[in-house]
Amino acid sequence: ACSKQEEAPAPAPAAAPAPAPAKVYVVGTDAAYAPFESQNEQGQIVGFDIEVVQAIAAKAGFEVKFVNTPWEGIFNELQQGGRDLLVSAITITDERKQTMDFSDPYFDAAQLIAVKADSTVATFADLKPLKVGVQTGTTGDEVVTQLLGKTSTNVKRFESTPLALKELEAGGVDAVVADNGVVQHYVANNAAGGFKTVSDPAFVPEQYGIAVRKGNAELLAKVNEGLKAIRADGSYDAIHAKYFGA
Ligand code: ARG
Repeated sequence: ACSKQEEAPAPAPAAAPAPAPAKVYVVGTDAAYAPFESQNEQGQIVGFDIEVVQAIAAKAGFEVKFVNTPWEGIFNELQQGGRDLLVSAITITDERKQTMDFSDPYFDAAQLIAVKADSTVATFADLKPLKVGVQTGTTGDEVVTQLLGKTSTNVKRFESTPLALKELEAGGVDAVVADNGVVQHYVANNAAGGFKTVSDPAFVPEQYGIAVRKGNAELLAKVNEGLKAIRADGSYDAIHAKYFGA
């Protein structure tokens, strides 16, 4: 009789076990925030944040897949499990820390005002009686809402920062408040817009972090380890210099 056991092939000679395939993590980013994240003409997601995360992943031994994710739903996507990581010029705040965990800070930022070149706005307080454009749910939205008042109809909220800046160009708002890197980039690349920037010491320092689901200590440790490594070997500085100059 032919039993199962008799048919079993002889065990294969000992061979090195195949390496486990690198884990692929899905990274959410609101890719309308140049130079941190944007889509190029081929539809690829590119930018400072993207290269930083790619470099981290290479060091820490995982793979990443970037998925364009509107800012409005980005934190929800992380929480629901649709994204494993978020990199989106996200300011680390105490409020956000209650619902997600952040990597060590990887970039310093602050708010910055964009106005038309002929504007008389010289300080943040000067915006009080004006119409101000912000991206909904950003730290820019928070500070402007605080200045103008929760019920003010002069706070004009937009789905994306480029939309707010377009409205400034069109004259629908008198100013836009957003992260300095993005405002500077937009103003520098839109000479036709006729903008200038106004900074103010009232704007507190902000720091960007990479977000993981609350309690995902394993992934957070890998990200922090990778971040340390790219800071140590100069690759962070090289990416920084590429986007912001030396
Ligand atoms: N740093 C600001 C914040 O965390 C704005 C970030 C917006 N990012 C983006 N990709 N649209 O609120």
